[in-house]
Amino acid sequence: MKVITKIAEMQKQIIQEKNNQKSIGFVPTMGYLHEGHMALIKRARQENDIVVLSVFVNPLQFGPSEDLEAYPRDFERDKKAAEDSGVDYFFYPDVNEMYPGAPSVKVIVQDRTEVLCGRSRPGHFDGVATVLTKLFNIVLPDRAYFGMKDAQQVAVVDGLIHDFHFPITLVPVETVREEDGLAKSSRNVNLLPEERKQAPALYESLKLAEHMINEGVRDPERIISSMAQHISGQTSGIIDYIEIYSYPDLKPVSKIQGKIIIALAVKFSRARLIDNMIVTVNE
Ligand code: PAF
Repeated sequence: MKVITKIAEMQKQIIQEKNNQKSIGFVPTMGYLHEGHMALIKRARQENDIVVLSVFVNPLQFGPSEDLEAYPRDFERDKKAAEDSGVDYFFYPDVNEMYPGAPSVKVIVQDRTEVLCGRSRPGHFDGVATVLTKLFNIVLPDRAYFGMKDAQQVAVVDGLIHDFHFPITLVPVETVREEDGLAKSSRNVNLLPEERKQAPALYESLKLAEHMINEGVRDPERIISSMAQHISGQTSGIIDYIEIYSYPDLKPVSKIQGKIIIALAVKFSRARLIDNMIVTVNE
């Protein structure tokens, strides 16, 4: 595995690989790799000749109240994990390399951001779209891999790739779960022992929604209310939102029809957990 810190060097290597007809799979991350990232790398490894992993904590996507400095970083651990999982290029630029001066151009996401977590994180997805535009231009991937745990990010990237005509296939990868169904997240360690026991109720509520849809329920409000009842009955968490939209365009739906997302966020005492499920109804 090659560790590369300079954009020019990364581009040079990619051009060589492309000249040799190699397909490029790209896994963009902010580091502190966990099992969710490993699933992305594994999938990229299966589908491409070359796998590029980027680790860059992108200041542009942090809000003023979000602590950029406190974001966990561990270069040596990430490097080892990447190497062990078969990454070919570990792209690790610093902030000066990625943003050498005040940016003269920024990508503004116009749609898909005013709902779910985007509502409480203004500007976040502009930062994500801006850095991904830069990374896509550097890495020139054939396929880019993103976890469905952050389904709104996947929807935004889908819009970015489509609107800016990037010749990239977006590959959404299913959320990795604990045995009891809880979506894996670095935030789970912040749950109190009692909350950890309760937390599978989030996924249970999504399964309940799926069951209701399979049983013919088409009213989103009825589903949301049953989910809320389940979560409130089984946990001490405070529901931040339970919402249902069309996917990936994230528009409100009055009836369960086509491809939809059921998404939730629940606040526990020291951790806010998110989860979602995509369901397709074709009748
Ligand atoms: O999901 C992330 O880790 C980040 O939002 C991403 C896609 C690497 C952009 O900085």
